[in-house]
Amino acid sequence: MCGIFGYINYLVERDRKFILDTLLNGLSRLEYRGYDSAGLAVDGDKKNVVCAFKEVGKVAKLKELIEESKPDLTKTFESHAGISHTRWATHGTPSRLNCHPHRSDVNWEFSIVHNGIITNYKELKALLETKGFRFETETDTECIAKLTKYLYDQQPDIDFTVLAKAVVKELEGAFGLLIKSVHFPHEVIAARKGSPLVIGVRTSRKMKVDFVDVEYSEDGALPAEQASQNVAMKKSATGLLAPPDKSLLHRSQSRAFLSDDGVPQPAEFFLSSDPSAIVEHTKKVLYLEDDDIAHIHEGQLNIHRLTKDDGTSNVRAIQTIELELQEIMKGKFDHFMQKEIFEQPESVVNTMRGRLDVANKQVTLGGLRQYISTIRRCRRIIFVACGTSYHSCMAVRGVFEELTEIPISVELASDFLDRQAPVFRDDTCVFVSQSGETADSLMALRYCLERGALTVGVVNVVGSSISLLTHCGVHINAGPEIGVASTKAYTSQFVAMVMFALSLSEDRASKQKRREEIMEGLAKISEQFREILKLNDPIKQMCAKFFKNQKSLLLLGRGGQFPTALEGALKIKEISYLHCEAVMSGELKHGVLALVDENLPIIMILTRDNIFTKSLNAYQQVIARGGRPIVICNYDDPEFSSAQTEKIEVPKTVDCLQGLLNVIPLQLISYWLAVGEGLNVDFPRNLAKSVTVE
Ligand code: UD1
Ligand code: M6R
Repeated sequence: MCGIFGYINYLVERDRKFILDTLLNGLSRLEYRGYDSAGLAVDGDKKNVVCAFKEVGKVAKLKELIEESKPDLTKTFESHAGISHTRWATHGTPSRLNCHPHRSDVNWEFSIVHNGIITNYKELKALLETKGFRFETETDTECIAKLTKYLYDQQPDIDFTVLAKAVVKELEGAFGLLIKSVHFPHEVIAARKGSPLVIGVRTSRKMKVDFVDVEYSEDGALPAEQASQNVAMKKSATGLLAPPDKSLLHRSQSRAFLSDDGVPQPAEFFLSSDPSAIVEHTKKVLYLEDDDIAHIHEGQLNIHRLTKDDGTSNVRAIQTIELELQEIMKGKFDHFMQKEIFEQPESVVNTMRGRLDVANKQVTLGGLRQYISTIRRCRRIIFVACGTSYHSCMAVRGVFEELTEIPISVELASDFLDRQAPVFRDDTCVFVSQSGETADSLMALRYCLERGALTVGVVNVVGSSISLLTHCGVHINAGPEIGVASTKAYTSQFVAMVMFALSLSEDRASKQKRREEIMEGLAKISEQFREILKLNDPIKQMCAKFFKNQKSLLLLGRGGQFPTALEGALKIKEISYLHCEAVMSGELKHGVLALVDENLPIIMILTRDNIFTKSLNAYQQVIARGGRPIVICNYDDPEFSSAQTEKIEVPKTVDCLQGLLNVIPLQLISYWLAVGEGLNVDFPRNLAKSVTVE
């Protein structure tokens, strides 16, 4: 739950100011991933000296600290490697000591930044302590730095890659990490297992090929003796590795970076947990896969793996990403969340682009095409997700049941795993996640893969773990979502999943009319979003008038609008810290009604659908107790014509899509409530965008 950024220049002269600014700027783009402390390590004035800065708070504080320490900003480096990190604390409180980079020793022989959790750090720490290492932080990461030095000291002529392989083999858990070392100046190791890492490449000349070969240990494995030591280490952590054998390394050149005569060219490399921090420097990126160890040195990038026959490709493509810098900037908006709410008319169109053909009444999801007939035959579909993504699954359950007639269940990933719920080979398990990195969802995915189920991803971030690990899936193409509160991802997930249900039911003659009605509804959604967003100012005023200084708020919905209420309540809690409870209106009389009086603020979702009369019952119950609910209803609904009724009017759409429209006023309410309280909407306390811990 942190952000990593690294910058390496080779034969491209840069002064220290440029290097520090590049690292700090990269970190600020990643701040949404964690923002309780930040740090970086660059080369010092003298050879073999590392200059590290660490500070509690946001990246701006780190910048201040660096300015105060007045480093020589004019010093130039023809080749240099810098690493940096923005943290969201898991092991140890936010403090200068606990913040990254972590070091192997007082001389910073090895500096490390790390995302994820090393689950066997206690064993490694205990072992390294017996070897004389003194630990100075409460983090799990520090053991990686110390372990690296320990292994290096056993064989100081070791190659950096061989060393990195030996280190990585001892680590259990999840990681994305960068290692910088005074013993390997201007070089960086980047390794990933379960935590994303992207490498951007900038060269003045065109690259020879658009891929990098993957290199393996000779014979595809470690020698038996070393492998068995490894197993012993895993079990007891009592015997650290014998120094790895240098001959294991199969050296090949990474062809992409060489000139015609085979000489490395000037190059710059940008390493990041997320491409959004790279796009302003280069569009050429390479996504590392799990268990890849990348070595950047002398203008080259080599990718290594421990074993050959693990089913992964022999090359990593250097892709051109289409992300534009303006897409990840706030533009005219005050907050990313606000920008993302207002982007929804476009983001839903991007979700449907090339997939929904209303004229020919067809939906084509390229990523599912080969699997659709298998999914149609499955015995049930299980949706698994967390938070907002879970709510989007709840919101589409009805339309899946109606169109496919396949039994549907919707699961919170953590609870699903806690129960070790039964999963079978003829199940289809759908993992819905904006980031594609959420630990609970990812673990549930692995659980379902082990049980032989067909797995489908509905993911925003291309190249994310869920996207890579699922058999097939749909990218929702909503564009980068930076605000911690998920908004446009919700509406795009909703739309993507409705299209999924439409694809599944394509062969059902009895459903054709209904399918066409839904497709026509989808075609109008974007325009209807635009209309609703015109309510921005009235909603802002409404928030100031009705919700200021309140302690609690109820949000009532029924049927398809209960998930909308859940999502609205989560948004309000998450960024305005106002307690807000979503209540299924049918349940009101079973307890919650006791809370209702003339003072408790209540929002009721009362757009027209086939259970509208039942929803009205709840409305009457509230009114009868003196409650004065704010109503979300369709335009000019005669039921709410009284001038006394406070209402937010939204356009009407097909019933199963109405939640898409109704959620937008709730997103705006949560936004204005938080702004009204002077809170930092994009960085709610205790939360981060990508929850990569259990
Ligand atoms: C793809 C291209 C898109 C191109 C279009 C043209 C990508 C990412 N998308 O879009 O740029 O315009 O073809 O036909 O290259 N997948 C998973 N799990 C997930 C999400 C996706 O396995 O969670 C897989 C899909 O099964 C598919 C691939 O990733 O094999 C791309 O998915 P998606 O982007 O949704 O496919 P298209 O819409 O066809
Ligand atoms: O990236 P994911 O969609 O898997 O994230 C799941 C939740 O952590 C996320 O939706 C969270 O609830 C949001 N911050 C809500 O706005």
